[in-house]
Formats: sequence, structure tokens, C-alpha cells
Amino acid sequence: MVTGHVFIATSLDGYIARDNGDIGWLHSIPTEGEDHGYQDFIGGVDGIIMGRETFQKVLEFDTWPYSKPVVVMSQTLRQAEVPSRLSDTVHVSAQPPNALIQTLSIKGWKRAYVDGGQVIQSFLEAGLIEDMIITRIPILLGSGRPLFGPLSRDVQLDHTKTTAFPSGLVQSWYRVRFDP
Ligand SMILES: NC(=O)c1ccc[n+]([C@@H]2O[C@H](COP(=O)([O-])OP(=O)(O)OC[C@H]3O[C@@H](n4cnc5c(N)ncnc54)[C@H](OP(=O)(O)O)[C@@H]3O)[C@@H](O)[C@H]2O)c1
Repeated sequence: MVTGHVFIATSLDGYIARDNGDIGWLHSIPTEGEDHGYQDFIGGVDGIIMGRETFQKVLEFDTWPYSKPVVVMSQTLRQAEVPSRLSDTVHVSAQPPNALIQTLSIKGWKRAYVDGGQVIQSFLEAGLIEDMIITRIPILLGSGRPLFGPLSRDVQLDHTKTTAFPSGLVQSWYRVRFDP
């Protein structure tokens, strides 16, 4: 079965974007070209599962940043609305997390990068996230779109390591503990 993996940046107060979706603050700290392990991480996944909101934000970037297949989870977006230049690599899925993971497993995926706050929350709830790399940016936003949200049960995590970068970014690695 495909395992889900998170690599995401948050404000110190736990937001991944402002209420209006703005992520400009992610680049408010000079990081001297440090990639915080992103290339190693992305090199180890078969593709990316992201929420429709994240997809629409990435479409605003000057260039498409992914060389791997992307699945956009949405009940509202249609495949025909994906820009034609991306139609070979971006596929829209209306499946819920468990069914999507089964579909991707059949396609041969082993590890998926799971991205977008709401999608990460639903994958955590479904027990489909194996580990998370969370990079905290030293900024308080006060409000915004949260990384985490309500859960029907506690999710226990094992802390693997934390690295403080010279820029002030602090990155923590966690493994999700699965009940036997
Ligand atoms: N800080 C970072 O590193 C980082 C990383 C990623 C994203 N972001 C930012 O975060 C914002 C987007 O995050 P978000 O939490 O607002 O939204 P999101 O998780 O990217 O997308 C949520 C949407 O995905 C669709 N969806 C389909 N199935 C779902 C399911 N099972 N669970 C949850 N959503 C499902 C729904 O769209 P439909 O209504 O179409 O069904 C839902 O509205 C953007 O501004 C993005 O740029 C920041």
C-alpha cells in the first residue's frame, strides 16, 4: 500500500497560508539557497497528492515545479479544467483518501507526498500518513489556514530529529505511531 509523507512549512502559530491563501510570508526570511532537504524528500516519492486549493495556488507560480505525477483531490474540479500543458502529469481524483491510495498502489506508487492542509488532515484522520517533516518559520500570522485540525482520536507521534537552520527555520521530523 502507498504510504503518505508530509513535507511542509508552517508559521510558528501553525498556519500554512493566510486566510486568503497567500504564502508570500514563506519567503520572508533569507535562507541562503538552503533547500531544507526538499530535493532529497521529493526524490524519494513516486508522486504528489494535493488538495484543489494547493493546486490552484501552484498554478499561479511562474513555472510548474514538479517533475513527478500529481493527483489533485477535488469534488468540484474537472479534469478538463486542468491546463492542457499539464494534462499528462496532473490528474483530478474525486476518490476519498483510502480509495485513492488503493488506486495509486495498483498503479505502482509506493510513497506519496501529501500536500495541502485539509488533505493532510483527512489523511491523518484516515491513518494514511507515515511521517511528517515540518519546518517552522519564525513568524506569527495570528490567523490563517491551519496545518492541523479536528481529529476523532489522538494521533501519537515519535519525534525523530530537529534541525535548527542558521536562518532561524526549525525543522522537526515525526513518525506517526500506529496502534498495534
Ligand atoms: N506552507 C506550505 O508549505 C504549504 C504547502 C501546501 C499548501 N500551502 C498553501 O495552503 C493553502 C491550501 O491548503 P488548504 O488546507 O486550504 O487546502 P487543500 O488541502 O490544498 O485543498 C482543500 C480542497 O481539496 C479538496 N478535497 C478533496 N478531497 C478532500 C479530502 N478528502 N480532504 C480534504 N480536501 C479534499 C476540496 O476541494 P473541492 O471543494 O474542490 O472538493 C478541498 O476544498 C494554499 O494557500 C497553499 O498555497 C502551503
